This record gives sequence, structure tokens and C-alpha cells, in this order.
Amino acid sequence: MAEPVNPLSVAGDADLRRLAEVSVELIARAQDPSGAYPAAVGFAPYGFSWFRDGAFVAEGMSRAGAVESATAFHEWCARVLTREAAAVSSLVSQVAAGSQPSDVDLLPARYTLAGDRHDDDWWNYQVDGYGTWLWALRSHLTRWGLPLAPYASAAEVAVRYLVAVGARPCRDWWEEHRDHTHVSTLASVHGGLRAAAMLGVLPATADMAADRIADLVQREGLHDGALRKWLGSTAADASLVVAGVPFGLVPPGGPVDRATVARVTSELSTPGGGVHRYVSDTFYGGGQWPILAGFLGWHHAVAGPRDQAVALLRWIASTADSSGSLPEQVPPLLAPDVLAEWTERWGPSAQPLLWSHGMYLVLASELGVIP
Ligand code: BGC
Repeated sequence: MAEPVNPLSVAGDADLRRLAEVSVELIARAQDPSGAYPAAVGFAPYGFSWFRDGAFVAEGMSRAGAVESATAFHEWCARVLTREAAAVSSLVSQVAAGSQPSDVDLLPARYTLAGDRHDDDWWNYQVDGYGTWLWALRSHLTRWGLPLAPYASAAEVAVRYLVAVGARPCRDWWEEHRDHTHVSTLASVHGGLRAAAMLGVLPATADMAADRIADLVQREGLHDGALRKWLGSTAADASLVVAGVPFGLVPPGGPVDRATVARVTSELSTPGGGVHRYVSDTFYGGGQWPILAGFLGWHHAVAGPRDQAVALLRWIASTADSSGSLPEQVPPLLAPDVLAEWTERWGPSAQPLLWSHGMYLVLASELGVIP
């Protein structure tokens, strides 16, 4: 068991490394025996496993050398998708026949830790997680030289699902705006399809669908040279940073990537601080999210400048409590008046959030803070 982390003393590399150890332990302890990662501990609405959150948590664990944990999560995803194969086949036939599937015919955003659908009125139908899963699966298998075979048929189900509905309007990363086509969702789907093609999972089909998404974004996804929150919008969203790193929808460090990162930085981040989701965010008052500092830092670690990546890693570490637990979000708030509404509904916001720990591990490994 690692020593507790004092956030005020998180300054040196040893402290940053220790927070990485704490993160690995915390995620491993929270992981269900089924392999599922709950989104958070001690926060009931997040006691489920999201493909989006889990895929990035698995990437962090894979990079940190927790190979069995990441493998167990990918096996859990493969079991869920194998169980969903019939639903996906019927959806693919409906779409091929030109009919419009209703939201209940589409895959949900989150499953119980046992891998079952959970029948409630959650803001389901978000396709990005299935793309992110394919991307994280390839990353893990390639990193550790593991065979595709145990996941191949589940990965085919994910590809067929994304080819059928991956570029249609759906809820975004933040489970909002059901009727728009979100550019960071397209980026996640694109990244997943390219990863599937590289793994040899329906490669021609996957690449063709990824090409169509890249064309769509090229034609309709830009506003003033930067990526837009959704097709037709003029707003920015911090999740757009993923279009370059890691999903390669636009070349990392190229003009669109740089313009997008510049806009996110100027509109949504605080110098020396963290990153908000989007300007009109009111969820828990619209704080700054460690995961988004992780994505922005990842961009800077790959495309430069590196010192900004290090500063963002340190900022994430500064949000840890005395046990090293990382939150979903912290002040400053964009909409302080709305905070009470959420705390009355659900209590204080989620902490620890596993995705925050997963992104901390990704950035720490990208910067060489952990081997
Ligand atoms: C976020 C989602 C996330 C979920 C679980 C929501 O509040 O908007 O992106 O998947 O929490 O962490």
C-alpha cells in the first residue's frame, strides 16, 4: 500500500510517481470481479460501467503495467458485445432497409457491473464509447503482444454497429444534445474504426466508414479553422482535443489540431489551472475537469510544448485529496448558482472518478514520469 499523497507537496517527480501508484491501486480495488470498471466509487449514479470511461481507464492501466486489469476490462466489453450481437444485427438490417431505429434499439452508454442493460431513464445512446473501446483494445493488444482472437467477434459487432450508426446524431461525451452530430463523437468513432482496420477486423469496411467520417468533418466540422462542438455549431468543446491525439481524425500538431487546441485553451482553460467542458456547462456548476487537463496535456506531450503538458499533470495532481483520490471536477465554476441543484439531487460530485485516475496514468506515462 503506497503512502498517502499530500496534494500540497505534489511537486517533485517522486510525488507524481506516488500518485500514479495510488491511482493503479485505487482502480484495481474498484474494479469489479467481472472486469468492469465502475465510473466512480461511492457515487450511486456512477456505479455502472461506461465503455467511454472504462476504455480510457484501461489505457491508463495498460500503460502502467497493470496488464491483467486492462485485459479483464476488455474481456468484459467483449462479453457485453457478444451478448448484444443479435440486437446489433437487427439494427444493421433496419438501417440497411432505410428505417430509422428508435433510441431503445440502440446500445446504451452504460451497463451494470455484471454487464447487463439497466432499465432506467439515463441519457443513453452515445456511440463514442464503442469507438474508444476498439481504439483502446488495439492499443493494449499491440503494447503487450496479445492475441486478437478472444475479442475478434466482439470487435466485429462494434465495427458493424459503428458503420450503421456511428455518424448519426446521438448524445455527446457529456450525455447531452441528443439531436446533434458531435465532432468529438465522430473523432472517437473514426479512431475506433481505424484501429479495427489495423487489427484486421473487417478492415475494408472499417476504413471506408472512417474515410466517410473524415470527409464529413473536413466539409462540415470546422468553424474558423477549428473543430466545432457539433455540425452546424459555432461553439467549442474541450473534448474536441482528442481529434488529434489520440484519435488521428486530424493530424496531431497540424493546423486544425492547433487551431482547436488554441480555442479550447483560450476559452475553456485557466493559465496554470484546469479545463472546463464548454462555456455554457452547468453540471455541478460547470467546474474544471482533471480528465480534460489529461487530454490537453496528452496533446502537448505529443505535439509540444512539453512544459505545458507537465504543468497540466501537476495541476491534476493538485486536485487530489489527502488520500490521493481524484475528483470529477473542481472549482472555479462557470455557473455557481446551479451547484446546489445538483448537490441536492445526488450529493457532492463524484470522487474518486476512475477516469480522472486513468487519464493521470496516461499523461504520466506519456511524459515518462512512470516507465
Ligand atoms: C459525464 C460522462 C461520463 C459519466 C460517468 C457524466 O457526468 O458527462 O462523460 O461518462 O459522467 O463518468
